Amino acid sequence: MRVDRDGSSTRHWDHVARRWVLNGYSNELLAEHKRKTHLALVARWANVENSGRILKTDLFEEAFGPDQFLFDLGQVTSNVIGIDCSNEIVVQAKRQAKQHNVDESKYLCCEVRHLPFPENSIDLIISNSTLDHFPSETDIVTALKELGRVLRVGGTLILTIDNKSNLTYPPYMLMRLWMQLGLAPYFIGKTLSPAKLRRTLEEIGFAVEESTAIFHYPHPDALVRWLECSLRKMGRGKFDDAIRKGLAVLDKLEGKRSKYLTGRYVAVKAVKSATS
Ligand SMILES: C[S@@+](CC[C@H](N)C(=O)[O-])C[C@H]1O[C@@H](n2cnc3c(N)ncnc32)[C@H](O)[C@@H]1O
Repeated sequence: MRVDRDGSSTRHWDHVARRWVLNGYSNELLAEHKRKTHLALVARWANVENSGRILKTDLFEEAFGPDQFLFDLGQVTSNVIGIDCSNEIVVQAKRQAKQHNVDESKYLCCEVRHLPFPENSIDLIISNSTLDHFPSETDIVTALKELGRVLRVGGTLILTIDNKSNLTYPPYMLMRLWMQLGLAPYFIGKTLSPAKLRRTLEEIGFAVEESTAIFHYPHPDALVRWLECSLRKMGRGKFDDAIRKGLAVLDKLEGKRSKYLTGRYVAVKAVKSATS
């Protein structure tokens, strides 16, 4: 699919959603791993049960994938808000939420850079790879400031974005070409280096309490997906446990000093300071 220059546009994500509904999700084991990794990260850095109002900044996984994890949080607390700039994605996520018997009344279509919530009204924000779909770094900073505005003082932001320190992260020029050739499934945006992300968060008024890198497999995504799919089909289930074990072995790279060279995403826990 050819993608327009402004990946943050509603039209673009509505279009992606319509295609995704038709094609379905074909990487069950990667999805299972992604869901578990996100749930483990949230459990490590927040106490969901006592967190108060929780906001997730996109509903892509909830709309389409077994990689969803908001429904799992929805089983623990009903205080869950989900937003997405694509109405198609919100509608689809609501449909899926009903099937999982979780409350979807607070799933909204809106823009992460202009949230319809008052200042200091959210206790925990989970933003996994939403902010790396903007055409410029300035947009990322604008979105971070907006998350800082709605988060209460002392509230926690759990954020992941593409890690450009990863050894296999392609130059942005190549990604732009990939998109122009119609080979990317959707718009891939700019990202901030781990150091710049930390600096920016601190300037906005967050204290960065934790930082790590997650999902330790290489780019390009299409290759990893193809490999998982082929092994699963070839083995007709017989390789599933081996694939799971392989992913668990790769997870161990998070404990190494080289984690930012191998992890796909930078993940940070940032707490809003009283002085912000
Ligand atoms: C490709 S998905 C990836 C995110 C997903 N959490 C994941 O890790 O698979 C990007 C999602 O962010 C949403 N999105 C993109 N720009 C947005 C914006 N400015 N405001 C709110 N949602 C946005 C898209 O509609 C889409 O659902």
